[in-house]
Amino acid sequence: MSLPKVYVSRRIQDAGLLLLNGRVEYEVWEEIGPVERGVLLEKGATADGLLVTLSDRIDEELLSRCPQLKVVGNYAVGYDNIDVKAATERGVLVTNTPDVLTNATADIAFALLLASARRVVEANEFLRSGDWVTWHPNLLLGSDVSGSTLGIVGMGKIGQAVARRAKGFDMEILYVNRSPKPEIERTLGARRVALEELLAASDFISLHCPLNEETRGLIGEEELRAMKRTAFLINTSRGPVLDQKALFKACSEGWIGGAGLDVFEKEPVPLDEPLLTLKNVTTLPHLGSATIKAREGMARKAAENVLAALEGRRPVDLVNPEAFRA
Ligand code: GLV
Ligand code: GLV
Repeated sequence: MSLPKVYVSRRIQDAGLLLLNGRVEYEVWEEIGPVERGVLLEKGATADGLLVTLSDRIDEELLSRCPQLKVVGNYAVGYDNIDVKAATERGVLVTNTPDVLTNATADIAFALLLASARRVVEANEFLRSGDWVTWHPNLLLGSDVSGSTLGIVGMGKIGQAVARRAKGFDMEILYVNRSPKPEIERTLGARRVALEELLAASDFISLHCPLNEETRGLIGEEELRAMKRTAFLINTSRGPVLDQKALFKACSEGWIGGAGLDVFEKEPVPLDEPLLTLKNVTTLPHLGSATIKAREGMARKAAENVLAALEGRRPVDLVNPEAFRA
């Protein structure tokens, strides 16, 4: 009997690829850049499974050209790159990689928060460009994190991990979420509020919601104008949750204190993006889950999920259970 065929759209960690050995026949896109659309379509045409990343768009067109496809395993927790509805209609299982990247992503959100508050990147550039001529009482003063108020938009696993870190900094925690999180309220004293209250009261706002039709453009001009003039906005979720043009106005005209961004509307962010000219904006190239441990966990999970689907078992991280038939 021949083994099922899996196409892997990026060289993920061996921790994941080794699991596939002997159980499926797989091929890996070996280039540094994302797999070309034409190649993905060609490989998908004969694949039983795809193991993909957020660089790959899995849409109706692609799915319609993959007649044998049973599963799309996303190597990410977010799956806005996949048309889940179209996959479900075709009985294709979609999986993601939650949990293993929760702490890594919460850490990067906090890194951006601290870097923004204390002007870490700006100060690093200041020193290296030879501008440090003397210690001075007013040199590069920043904002206090301790005792300030953090607003968390999206109190899922990552939002909660950020809240736990905030507790260690004696921050007051406000959050917006579809459903209340009593456990977080009880243990961390977090308070669920309306978005308007969160915007008006927070010194730092951190976005942790998935990108979907409800959250696209969630933070635009009106929301930015509602923030404190001293507040910082941190985004480690998905770029399109935030209106980048409005954010540029907000950060350059002093509506808010600044921003820390790990994600962008378009990635890689074009170098002529105006936000990149601002000292009060700290940027990272989508590194939320970029630790060795998190990435190995993601590779393992993505592989296990694809194997489960191809071997007729229910994948642990199934995004569309309605597509599963035992
Ligand atoms: C990364 O952005 C992810 O969704 O895992
Ligand atoms: C500053 O370096 C201080 O010692 O207060």
